[in-house]
Amino acid sequence: MIEEINKHIADLEKIKLKNSDELEKFRIKYISKKGIVPFLFSKLKEIPDAQKREVGLKINSIKEKVNEILSKQKKKFTKTSSDQSSDDLTKPANFIKLGSRHPISIVKNKIIDIFLKIGFDISEGPEIEDDWHNFTALNLPEHHPARDMQDTFYINKNPDWLLRTHTSSVQIRHMENNDPPIRTISPGRVYRNEDISARSHCFFHQVEGLYIDKGVSFVDLKQTLLHFTKELFGKSKIRLRPSYFPFTEPSAELDIYWGLESEADYRITKGTGWLEILGCGMVDPNVLQNCKIDTEKFSGFAFGLGIERIAMLLYQIEDIRTLYENDLRFLNQFRSSI
Ligand code: PHE
Repeated sequence: MIEEINKHIADLEKIKLKNSDELEKFRIKYISKKGIVPFLFSKLKEIPDAQKREVGLKINSIKEKVNEILSKQKKKFTKTSSDQSSDDLTKPANFIKLGSRHPISIVKNKIIDIFLKIGFDISEGPEIEDDWHNFTALNLPEHHPARDMQDTFYINKNPDWLLRTHTSSVQIRHMENNDPPIRTISPGRVYRNEDISARSHCFFHQVEGLYIDKGVSFVDLKQTLLHFTKELFGKSKIRLRPSYFPFTEPSAELDIYWGLESEADYRITKGTGWLEILGCGMVDPNVLQNCKIDTEKFSGFAFGLGIERIAMLLYQIEDIRTLYENDLRFLNQFRSSI
């Protein structure tokens, strides 16, 4: 009996299995009900008591060895079989999950494209700003009441460092570093200390535009914005309503005629058919002088809009917060809009 067992142990050392079929045969040969291991265990009864322990341990070691071979080889064969199938060029490709652009990026890119085509470039700047670029240079000196229009997050309560409240700060930086003619748009994230609700958030995204050259007038502003609304919304009826911004004079709000064709149109335009889209105006000469631009020679216009508002309008999004939750069920719906 001992001899027989030792022979099996020696056999196991030499065993070579080529594929999963051979592995299955090996399993059946050794550990199936009628296999070698159960057979040897059944013979244990016939062994004299004195040898039982020794023989039992040996049979057990065969069983362990078989199990070890089984688990090792199994891993090897499953791996090889998938390797082989990846060589099969006729096999259907693995499914690759495609991402989609965020609606804010989609709208931002659309706006950027419209202005790049008419000669604007893109300028960017820091989100942490100093007081000069966010306020003072924009004709908003300290204690100016209009500073309250944009509730500000200050950094470490230091009145000189803040999270920019608009990307007009980028326009100041651009004018400080470039001579006219200037045609630039400044996309970016801005922050305002506002309550979070379906319509407002403590941060959002803007695109602001700036055009400085010789003889730029309100007519250029109106025509540029008309071109923009035609391109983005396919709407060609606009109106410029007088408004106030410290950095532009005169200032205006641009409304577009959205129409009153559906129930939704009534809802979003509050029954008027008109929608407010952006703020704009002729750059105040004080602002140009703050950036060392000769106001005898140059004039310009500026405008600024919130991307979220436009995205909500274009995609009929009711709650601004859905734009920031990153719920894939929401985001995947924008795949085709790219
Ligand atoms: N900076 C203004 C805002 O954040 C928008 C604006 C830009 C208005 C340029 C007029 C001219 O609301």
